[in-house]
Amino acid sequence: MNKLYIAPSVLAADFSNLGEQISLAEAGGADWIHLDIMDGRFVPNITFGPMVVSAIRKMTKLPLDTHLMIADADKHLEAFREAGSDRITVHQEACPHLQRTVARIRELGAKPGVAINPATPSSTLTEIMADTERVLVMTVNPGFGGQRFLPGTLKKMREIKAMIKASGRDIRLEVDGGVDASTMPLVTAAGADTLVAGTSVFRTTDIRRAIAELRAAGKPKKGTK
Ligand code: DX5
Ligand code: ZN
Repeated sequence: MNKLYIAPSVLAADFSNLGEQISLAEAGGADWIHLDIMDGRFVPNITFGPMVVSAIRKMTKLPLDTHLMIADADKHLEAFREAGSDRITVHQEACPHLQRTVARIRELGAKPGVAINPATPSSTLTEIMADTERVLVMTVNPGFGGQRFLPGTLKKMREIKAMIKASGRDIRLEVDGGVDASTMPLVTAAGADTLVAGTSVFRTTDIRRAIAELRAAGKPKKGTK
């Protein structure tokens, strides 16, 4: 089983104190920092662009895991890579030429990922398993943090885990939305090894402890493999 990576999403952080919030997450053992980029077109909300990513780049040494919830992602790949993104995830639903987009992300020197929304079937990923480094399963409808986890996505995680095994490639299964101490055991049991957590990390009184609790909740129970 891959080492569990925790990727706190700054979407839920206090932006008036972002540097300190990110330092606390780093001190708490976060593996990546997850950046939710929204354009108000692919999703109803607007968040931030490459300029803020460049600022965040200066705040941490952790890998920046940039989640592009935007239309026309191809137009913006260079800018997000230039800004310091180490991983760039695009939505299958927003990329008509997905293989070319994923290849371009790799060409730019970032690790590519492909995300799918709750109603998008795992079968849409079949042809991209040979190219992607990561699959991101949205467990909420994208656009906002703090939403309720959709348990119907667990079945899809198991399907994708089987597709990863069949590919023979080292592909990470990332999950994003409503991940907290109660849903953590469900998603790791379903095969997730990379967990995005916004509210359950940053909307707490102790960011460091929140990350430790999440990691503990994701550990396999005694007697299970
Ligand atoms: C949705 C966002 C959220 C965020 C995490 O578009 O991608 O899923 O990262 O949200 P919570 O607060 O549910 O962890
Ligand atoms: Zn995200």
